[in-house]
Amino acid sequence: MRILSHLTWVTALLALAAAVLPIAAQCAGTDALAGQPPSSRQVTHARHADASTAARQIERGRYLVRIGGCNDCHTPGYAAAGGSAPEQQWLVGDSLGMQGPWGTTYPINLRLFMPSLTEQQWVDHARTMQARPPMPWFNVRAMSDEDLRAIYAFVKSMGPAGRPAPAALPPGAAASGPVLRWPG
Ligand code: HEC
Repeated sequence: MRILSHLTWVTALLALAAAVLPIAAQCAGTDALAGQPPSSRQVTHARHADASTAARQIERGRYLVRIGGCNDCHTPGYAAAGGSAPEQQWLVGDSLGMQGPWGTTYPINLRLFMPSLTEQQWVDHARTMQARPPMPWFNVRAMSDEDLRAIYAFVKSMGPAGRPAPAALPPGAAASGPVLRWPG
């Protein structure tokens, strides 16, 4: 009985040491940081804040692209596959022509387009663009600056991929590839 209770104490003490030591080490680390000039300490905190703000912005951009329907046209086969295309394949544009009274348009490659603009250029472009159908440019125009910046951050974070989509064709011009015909 005695031996057992001693063992229990020893176990408890060891557990306590295991819990306290890392905290003590962390405090020592903080103290070491406190010894540094305040500016470098602030910089460290600011970097952490910047990193998490950027990560949150990218996450919001991913969410907006998903619910904003951008993939439905700008990612090949996205809607047909029930939205299951892996993220690396998102927004590379499509060579499936969208044909109607406006001619034939192709959803552009946003993975190449976005990085070709600065963030401000993108916001200005989104505010003024008036693309041909069926691009819902009016939906993009209605987005807040914050949302447009988040989309930019997300698309840019994915990096460039794919090839440019075919150039649009005027009404009456025959498309060489497959087209989706819209009623006149
Ligand atoms: C219904 C299909 C469709 C959807 C949904 C769609 N796009 Fe497009 N998008 C197109 C097509 C087609 C074009 C090419 C239009 C043209 O050539 O005038 C285009 C062009 C664009 C352009 C270039 C426009 C220009 O004038 O520079 C941008 C930027 C763009 N889309 C962004 C988006 C974003 C962001 C979303 C999601 C909010 C989105 N698109 C959703 C079909 C679509």
